Amino acid sequence: MATTQPVLSNAPRGMDLLDRPILNKGTAFTEDERSRFGLHGLLPPHIEALNRQVVRAYEAYKRKDDDLERHIYLRSLQDTNEVLFYRLLLDHIVEMTPMVYTPVVAQACQQFSHIYRRPRGLFISYPLRDSISTLLRSRRNPEVDVIVVTDGERILGIGDQGAGGLGIPIGKLSLYTLVGGIRPERTLPIVLDVGTNNAERLNDPEYLGWRHERITGQEYFDFVDQFVQAVKQELPETCLQWEDFATPHARPILQRYRDELLTFNDDIQGTSAVALGAILSAIKVTGKNLKDQQIVMFGAGSAGIGVADGLRTALKEDGLSEQEARSHFWAIDRDGLLHSGRRDLSPEQSIYAQAQDRLSGWPRSAKGEIGLAEVIGKIDATVLIGLSTVGGAFLEPIVREMARKVQRPIIFPLSNPTDKSEAKADDLIRWTDGRALVATGSPFAPVSYGGRTIPIAQCNNVYIFPAMGLGVIASGARRVTDAMMQAAAEALALNSPALKDSSASLLPFLTDIRRVAAEIAVAVGIQAQKDGVAPGFAEHELRERVRQTQWTPAYSSIADP
Ligand code: NAI
Repeated sequence: MATTQPVLSNAPRGMDLLDRPILNKGTAFTEDERSRFGLHGLLPPHIEALNRQVVRAYEAYKRKDDDLERHIYLRSLQDTNEVLFYRLLLDHIVEMTPMVYTPVVAQACQQFSHIYRRPRGLFISYPLRDSISTLLRSRRNPEVDVIVVTDGERILGIGDQGAGGLGIPIGKLSLYTLVGGIRPERTLPIVLDVGTNNAERLNDPEYLGWRHERITGQEYFDFVDQFVQAVKQELPETCLQWEDFATPHARPILQRYRDELLTFNDDIQGTSAVALGAILSAIKVTGKNLKDQQIVMFGAGSAGIGVADGLRTALKEDGLSEQEARSHFWAIDRDGLLHSGRRDLSPEQSIYAQAQDRLSGWPRSAKGEIGLAEVIGKIDATVLIGLSTVGGAFLEPIVREMARKVQRPIIFPLSNPTDKSEAKADDLIRWTDGRALVATGSPFAPVSYGGRTIPIAQCNNVYIFPAMGLGVIASGARRVTDAMMQAAAEALALNSPALKDSSASLLPFLTDIRRVAAEIAVAVGIQAQKDGVAPGFAEHELRERVRQTQWTPAYSSIADP
């Protein structure tokens, strides 16, 4: 059953058993188990149920007085008793998710060498490049469903952390288990330690990574290839998720391997999918169709184009031709509106170039550019998305003009971190008299307006990647296609709380996220079948497989050695 610990026929005894975090029950070992496994004397005599252990663990957690200490406590618990760790997390999901993942995991990566306690996952260092298969075979558990791998170069907003970047795969895989229900012993965090260019780390006498500047160029890509080939050989059916690689590496790696194994890059694909899901849910809340929207994309870089591509696909699914779908976009980058008269656009941007004849007589700057204010002034924009990294770009007159022409303007300042957000959530609510549907990239507190408290949805990847992992495992998918990402975004939108209560958050509550993950996983599995990358199951069978795969922390009996 999916709700139990693994039953090992050669279960260890005594301290060896207590030292296995996935088998250890601590004070919950029964009288009978204590006798059979030689545990009497090693444990205090009173036997506790899991829920009592959770109360005690929560008390200990509460005694910690800063976030890093809370993180260290939770990580130690994870390395001691995984069932208890996940039960505690599930019971306090809103409070503890930020402690095991963002934002506190950033500190944990910076301080990795100083707070290091016990090994978890694998360090694959460049000097050991000729024995990667051997390193993979040293993993603690033989069966692996999901690997999260980083090279530590672009950790969250804090840059190069070298080997300390391993904190991210550890944290992220905790969410794969917490939300997606991927069994903890079937996850494997990995850091590709190719050195670091972070002088602070290199000069720190306690730094635990390989003390060398980063390997670059062909040597770097050859090393990544050695790693991928070893994974294909040792763990051919495992989902390999790339995490926090610098952009110049992330895209080529994804392009090179996405048709070769079951793999995706959450920074590229997951972030677009969650933003797309939130936009689609906001459109549903307005009661209008996607076809009715005039979409302004402010910032036509990798994220902006990714989100626009997803919306364009959805428009075509609604019956529009390619040309009709393109005409709904007004994309603005650093030199103004993209239009067919411009010769400086990349091929991806050219797709969103507006026909020049629609722009005759439009006001332009001295340089001939058409800016955001002009676009908003000329069209009836219904959706405004910021992925530009230009903090404060959504100025009050622009927002007021948009809100003058549309009842429920959809305005998403998605750039991170907070100081790069194109607007503050409370300003958007005030400038639109509480009518705007807002989601952001960075977290914003709920806004009080007109006697209401308006929650602000944060486009956080946690809505997508654990569900994607669950979906590919349960469906037996061999690849992650773009259409599977699109299906995840659309399923997320269908599960928006705002569809039932228009003043609720656009994205699901954390307390409901496991249920939503299962729904998304089913949608992903159905799409995988349509794309011919998963075996055919009827929907009810797929649903059952998702249910069986989604592990819930609970103790089970352990077989005799
Ligand atoms: P990027 O650098 O590829 O794209 C930024 C684009 O904005 C570039 O094309 C740039 O030329 C353009 N830009 C710069 N100044 C501008 C101006 N004054 N007016 C109009 N456009 C301007 O970066 P990427 O990866 O696309 O990320 C953009 C932002 O979006 C980042 O802050 C990132 O953290 C955030 N992001 C948020 C997501 C979410 O769901 N919350 C998802 C992905 C990215």
